[in-house]
Amino acid sequence: MVRSDRRFARITAVSHATPARIVTNDDLSALMDTSDEWIRSRTGICARRLAADDVKTSDLALEVAEKLLAKSGLSADKLDFILVATITPDSQMPSTAARVQTKIGATNAFAYDLSAACSGFVFALATADKFIASGAYRCGIVIGAETLSKVIDWSDRSTAVLFGDGAGGVLLEASADMPFVQAEKLRTDGSRADSLTAGPDKLQMDGRAIFDFAVRDVPKNISETLTLGQLTADNIDYFVLHQANSRILDKMAQKLHTSREKFPQNMDRYGNTSAASIPLLLSELTETGTLKLDGSQTVLLCGFGGGLTWGSLIITL
Ligand code: UT7
Repeated sequence: MVRSDRRFARITAVSHATPARIVTNDDLSALMDTSDEWIRSRTGICARRLAADDVKTSDLALEVAEKLLAKSGLSADKLDFILVATITPDSQMPSTAARVQTKIGATNAFAYDLSAACSGFVFALATADKFIASGAYRCGIVIGAETLSKVIDWSDRSTAVLFGDGAGGVLLEASADMPFVQAEKLRTDGSRADSLTAGPDKLQMDGRAIFDFAVRDVPKNISETLTLGQLTADNIDYFVLHQANSRILDKMAQKLHTSREKFPQNMDRYGNTSAASIPLLLSELTETGTLKLDGSQTVLLCGFGGGLTWGSLIITL
């Protein structure tokens, strides 16, 4: 592909896919020593979706990609790239993205997976923005997809109740209009990696350590990103954050001195879906008309989790 004039990217479609099976807190209470009261009051989670044994991450990602193409009317051969952010790929090789690429017939697209845990979608979207802004590529799909139920230690109540399966994604197209990413700041600190790990063993988390990280490092990152964009929290219509714990969102709103109502949440129905959580929420907010995709809104996306990784993007939607 020949480099041409620099241009801006725009999100032109958003979609999501979730497994049909709903597992409530009460369902889990029948399987392990926990309670709806504990899970709900500590996390805000009431239920999660769990994939059937034969449903893989690529199946959820494929459904998202097909919905994006159907919504936009774009044919698959027009896609230049497919990025899938996931920590639960079907296999190390081929990538989940390559499986999606061939199944939708995106014959002109390159495709690969990106591993940045719960920050994966934000990292992938920041990457995709550069592909389009460079002028080298015109359009692509960015998906966050997970089947975390396959890597959860179901004998560990401290993590088993938190996570769920799902996928969400966006279609990104070149546009002459206006900058898509107004500011960004992505971070990684591998020295704290041990507090959240998965593979080759099952998922393990030091919940307290990750909670402290989330409420200390992440609001600082959001503030720094606002400063980079010469914006304040008042300029942001919605803060679409990784959906790990509603108490984390409460703390974010407090620390940023802004209304909690600007922090939408859906972890009550899906639990923590890692790289899928932000696009899944974006998709639901678009469906309800809260987000409009007409260039009128300023939204801050922020992921945080294993790595440790964290980062914010302020985008025009
Ligand atoms: O996606 C990446 C980002 N992830 C996050 O941001 C997660 C961050 N961490 C958290 O959200 C919270 O730390 C948790 C929700 C994971 C845990 O909440 P907590 O208030 O930090 O609880 P804790 O781990 O300190 O545990 C408190 C008590 C313990 O009992 P004792 O030692 O006080 O007697 C646990 O054994 O709660 C117990 N406990 C449970 N009880 C009932 C732990 N898990 C459960 C459970 N049901 N499922």
